[in-house]
Amino acid sequence: MQSRTLKKLMTIFFVLFLFSSCTRDYIVPEPPSPPPPPISPTENKISYSGEIQPVFTAKCTLCHGVGQTAPVLVSGKSYQSLMSMSGMVDTVVPGNSILYKKMAVGGSMHQYCTTANADSTYKWIRQGAKNN
Ligand code: HEC
Repeated sequence: MQSRTLKKLMTIFFVLFLFSSCTRDYIVPEPPSPPPPPISPTENKISYSGEIQPVFTAKCTLCHGVGQTAPVLVSGKSYQSLMSMSGMVDTVVPGNSILYKKMAVGGSMHQYCTTANADSTYKWIRQGAKNN
């Protein structure tokens, strides 16, 4: 009788030990991407040279010149520079593009541009990020 009780107790302790050794890993979700601008069926085609580069030239090249902070955003060099940096422009999931995330609300470059600038950049990426 005594030893059966002991066995039971030992089993209980063993089971408790098994459970106590379980750990739980929490998967911390990625911070959500900024919301994309609405898609309009009559969305205007964004021209890189006509709408994107002028923003870079006016607002970004002070710091993103040749030999300065990457990407180089100087006219004639910016497209090549952006495309050579991994993750900078993601045409599959435009909202994941580092360039857009930096320019959008909450991004560290948002202080240098407007939300409209960020939205145009998003649209340009969504339209295939062409050197047009
Ligand atoms: C006053 C200087 C300054 C201006 C103006 C500026 N940037 Fe930046 N930029 C930086 C610095 C410094 C970093 C690196 C730190 C960071 O990522 O916040 C950076 C980082 C970046 C990055 C990320 C690079 C990487 O490797 O992840 C992008 C993209 C970018 N800037 C785009 C822009 C755009 C677009 C503009 C214009 C709207 C702009 N920047 C204006 C200084 C500037």
